[in-house]
Amino acid sequence: MCGIIGYTGKEKVRDVILDALELLEYRGYDSAGIAYGEKEGTVSVCKCAGRVADLRKKCGSLGQDATYGIGHTRWATHGGVCDLNAHPHQVGKVTLVHNGIIENYKELTKEYELENELVSETDTEVAAALLNHFYKGNPDEAITKLVGVLKGTFALVMLFADQPGRIFSIRNVSPIVATYSEAGAMLASDVTALCRFTNRYFVVPEYHILELLQDGVRLSTLTGETVEPEYQVADWELNSSEKGAYPFYMEKEIMEQPDAIRATMEGRIVDGFPDFSKDGLPDSVLKNCERICVVACGTAMHAGLIAQSLVKSMLQMHIDVELASEFMYADPVVDEKTLVVAVSQSGETIDTLEALKYAKKKGATCMSILNVKGSSISRESDYVLYTNAGPEIAVASTKAYTTQLTVFYLLVARIAYIRGKMSEDEVKSYIRDFEQVPAAVEQVLANKKQIHLIAKNVITAKDLFMIGRGLDYALLLEGSLKLKEVSYIHSEAYASGELKHGPIALITTDTPVVALITQEKLKQKELSNIKEVRSRGADVVLFIKESLQDPTTKEYETVALPNVRDAFMGIPASVALQLLAYYVSADKGYDVDKPRNLAKVVTVE
Ligand code: F6R
Repeated sequence: MCGIIGYTGKEKVRDVILDALELLEYRGYDSAGIAYGEKEGTVSVCKCAGRVADLRKKCGSLGQDATYGIGHTRWATHGGVCDLNAHPHQVGKVTLVHNGIIENYKELTKEYELENELVSETDTEVAAALLNHFYKGNPDEAITKLVGVLKGTFALVMLFADQPGRIFSIRNVSPIVATYSEAGAMLASDVTALCRFTNRYFVVPEYHILELLQDGVRLSTLTGETVEPEYQVADWELNSSEKGAYPFYMEKEIMEQPDAIRATMEGRIVDGFPDFSKDGLPDSVLKNCERICVVACGTAMHAGLIAQSLVKSMLQMHIDVELASEFMYADPVVDEKTLVVAVSQSGETIDTLEALKYAKKKGATCMSILNVKGSSISRESDYVLYTNAGPEIAVASTKAYTTQLTVFYLLVARIAYIRGKMSEDEVKSYIRDFEQVPAAVEQVLANKKQIHLIAKNVITAKDLFMIGRGLDYALLLEGSLKLKEVSYIHSEAYASGELKHGPIALITTDTPVVALITQEKLKQKELSNIKEVRSRGADVVLFIKESLQDPTTKEYETVALPNVRDAFMGIPASVALQLLAYYVSADKGYDVDKPRNLAKVVTVE
């Protein structure tokens, strides 16, 4: 959480930093700030509670002559949302921004008697004061002393008042990527912010000192040995992280799904078979494991639930899906025979990262399904399958989810084939049908006006239920999360058969119900459950696979979903539910891409 940027180069420094902060704002957006140095070496700070747009206004013409600078967009952990707690923090000669949590900040404040130097309630300011305390003219020495006493996670970017033109950085767990291009030297919390200038970047290794200079970058160990940065290439197009003509990234990213799914399939279907050889994943890994355990958070965990339903029905194999934040505290059954699959868009979610590290210690084989290349989780994994969705900027995850499902659909078929659960013909027919999915998503998108109209049926609700059975229930958990996070409607997904065991008490004429029917074998039972809520006055909106419609389903406000194999309905159905959530939020006039209290990358436990 929190977005960090540092830049020195030929461009207008202040504008580069403010523009980059806008691109990083999805990581946190309760306050923002910049610090900039001018030729004579003074470091000035401008910061405020609110968005980057507010900061831009506050800065006015300040910093126009800056030649180097740093910036921060905050997701508050320690200390409320106010100007004083916003970063950068300045103590003595040090100006600093931070992403992460300094766990021992109270102990350090006491031990080094820093109380009188602090004006904010943040853990970050303690790091600034301590660095100032250690600083005797040699930045590397002071930084080394500082990280020797800090406990917790941190990505720190620092300026020293008497070191004009030099930007220093160090990290533990929290990410920092950097680059040097014609435009100058730059670092950021993620590659999205660098893409305007270049797609070449390197991940700053943990506990290494990075220095940005006008004419290059310097990377060294804490003992002073120089290290060559290992550059990699982001294959995201330079403008793919821009909104284009769409009012919100969420809409843009929903609309990109057919292409994102195709890009995820590319190279993974060979002669009509799912194939992961280009990913370097040997069949032996899939053949020899005795059980699978998916660890993930939020939407990514919901993708795991769909995988669970596929694995059970196609492989009759044991699979657990665990909330990563609970995983290691719940004595998980994980050993050398377990294939642990971490699922994460960002590859930085700390709970997922820690769960994977824990599984590794227990001897499990660790695989991950990620979107962001070179992310922390990728570096801890034995095998990585990338989703190729391109940058996902909106806080609410959309294309990352459907591309995670795409990987799972292909992966489970590969496992089924090599374990003899599906014949060659069955796999080929499965893949042929799966290849229809992007076109089915296009059909859902072509129907977005109808979904927009239907959104009016739920827009005024305070509480809402989403009901379905089997795979549909798992899909609704995600549909419901999407609606609640962007529209602030309290939405609960419920297995329809469970309603009568309690929650049906909440159904009234003011509680709309969204029902989903995509599985032929469950249709009749689901229709009975819908009747039960209807009899209690609920307005029902029914999302139903087209071929399952009949005169009885026509009694409800209905959205017809394109016909693909029942198992694959997960993807088109989710896209329809994403559109529902999107239109409710947009019509309520909310900032769809930045729902309150949320951040895109969750790097605190
Ligand atoms: C919801 C959402 C979150 C993330 C979760 C995990 O729309 O985006 O629930 O899915 O924070 O994030 P990643 O996938 O980056 O690990």
